[in-house]
Amino acid sequence: MALNFVKYLARQKGSSLEATIAPKPSVLHPREVLIRVKAVAINPADYKMIDQGHRVTDWPLVPGLDGAGVIEQAGDEVGDFMIGDRVLALFTPGDRSGSFQEYAVVEEKDVARYPANWSPEEASTLGVCYLTGIMALGIGLKTPLPFLEGGPILGLQPSSVLILGGSSAVGAATIQLLRLAVPECRILATSSPRHHDHIKNYLGADDVIDRNSSSLPFDAKQATPGSQGVDAIIDVVGAGREQRDIFEALNPNGAKIYAQVWTGDEQIDEPDSVNSIMFRGRDLPQLPGNQNIVHSLAQLLEGDKYRLPLPVHHVGHGLSALEKALELMRYGVSGEKLVVSI
Ligand SMILES: NC(=O)c1ccc[n+]([C@@H]2O[C@H](COP(=O)([O-])OP(=O)(O)OC[C@H]3O[C@@H](n4cnc5c(N)ncnc54)[C@H](OP(=O)(O)O)[C@@H]3O)[C@@H](O)[C@H]2O)c1
Repeated sequence: MALNFVKYLARQKGSSLEATIAPKPSVLHPREVLIRVKAVAINPADYKMIDQGHRVTDWPLVPGLDGAGVIEQAGDEVGDFMIGDRVLALFTPGDRSGSFQEYAVVEEKDVARYPANWSPEEASTLGVCYLTGIMALGIGLKTPLPFLEGGPILGLQPSSVLILGGSSAVGAATIQLLRLAVPECRILATSSPRHHDHIKNYLGADDVIDRNSSSLPFDAKQATPGSQGVDAIIDVVGAGREQRDIFEALNPNGAKIYAQVWTGDEQIDEPDSVNSIMFRGRDLPQLPGNQNIVHSLAQLLEGDKYRLPLPVHHVGHGLSALEKALELMRYGVSGEKLVVSI
């Protein structure tokens, strides 16, 4: 018999979250698992969906893209997981599959085990920023992704890349992934000064530049061999919208790539001489090996090759904590992931 459980939903665009009691979902397809969600990480997309209806087709909406918990049921064809496994997953906002609820159903390919010494709160922060970091490299820069089974093995090998937003969750993931993808690449990043130590000494960037420097393009150029400038810029926070001179950091003789994550705003204009590409979640099918992305995360974690990108800010438990975390996210976070226990 289906037992009742708690789900957190927004009835319509712009409404507050509310807690409702619903029957527990069950696995309907042979490659699905049912997860008892223990923790969810908040992403900017969560409030953009609730407040602006971004990509939402059905209301009420159970939000939530990131989460971690324990497998409670597995479909007949699930091969890699067992009931009781502690896992993180990429969830899909929606009634059965959003992470803002005690039980959610996810496809096996979107599930990964995480290290035994990690908490579910830590593990919940990994999925979306890892996926987006992979897209920044595989679709934005078109670099090889040697750690992704079936992924690109040939491609651009930039000698230097500037990542705008190094203290954002996506930026912190992208720095680590670029180091794995193109080990010799000189990686520069921007952030507020208080995160420079984390970005350089923990995430492994070669140099970090104050995001508010009045000479940012010059500072970035100075940090490249021969002060020639970077081959590519990855903008994960829409910084190019305000920092219009940022393209001056590009090496005029390099690949001149400006790869921007879709933030929900208009595409950023760039000079004609720049090769601009915008990437977003729906572009994922273009990337060879896309079915194995979460599996590759599990392998990197197992081999100690990928670290928790940002410290966790544990906001609390349940509905009030979800509302508080969404409010903090709307206001803007700095170098941390907001997490709520469910
Ligand atoms: N389309 C997609 O598929 C997709 C997927 C994931 C994310 N996104 C979007 O990507 C963006 C980043 O997501 P996230 O989760 O990584 O965000 P986040 O962690 O919430 O971003 C906060 C960080 O952004 C940094 N930042 C803001 N403006 C900056 C600027 N001008 N220069 C440098 N750093 C700046 C802040 O740096 P300091 O605190 O150091 O100042 C802060 O640490 C969001 O807009 C999100 O919606 C899109």
